Amino acid sequence: MYGTKNDLPEGTRVKMVELLNARLADAIDLQTQMKQAHWNVKGPTFIALHKLFDEVNEDVEEYVDLFAERAVQLGGIAEGTARTIAKRSTLSEYPLNASSGKDHVEAVSSALAAFGKQIRQGIATADQLDDADTADIFTEVSRGVDKWLWFVEAHIQAGQ
Ligand SMILES: [Fe+2]
Repeated sequence: MYGTKNDLPEGTRVKMVELLNARLADAIDLQTQMKQAHWNVKGPTFIALHKLFDEVNEDVEEYVDLFAERAVQLGGIAEGTARTIAKRSTLSEYPLNASSGKDHVEAVSSALAAFGKQIRQGIATADQLDDADTADIFTEVSRGVDKWLWFVEAHIQAGQ
């Protein structure tokens, strides 16, 4: 940890940096999974899903930056290398054999839901430690993830 005049107690900052790096790993993993889907989706819904998955990727890139930079603001080191995130991410591996729009909608919605669950837990943890700003970042991300989950799941909800 680096010294900082930030008035949050060091114990809180240490825990928040750890939490932010954990969710940073998930977010970078999620971002690469959205690109995987963007590149490989096939079928009659290709163009809609190809564009949608890239829009999700663009928002997730912003979440990555929010988490990494908050960790550094709190005196920590953002740990976002590919090898670190591969070890640390809590997301399941993306199915490399996904092909149809339905396959990718299933895989992407599962990844978004798993990520969203972790982020919601992050809001509660940050709240418990009185770090309202980290809780606010997680809340913003959680709202975004819930929106994208809706956009993706809407492709398979008709007639359910
Ligand atoms: Fe592209």
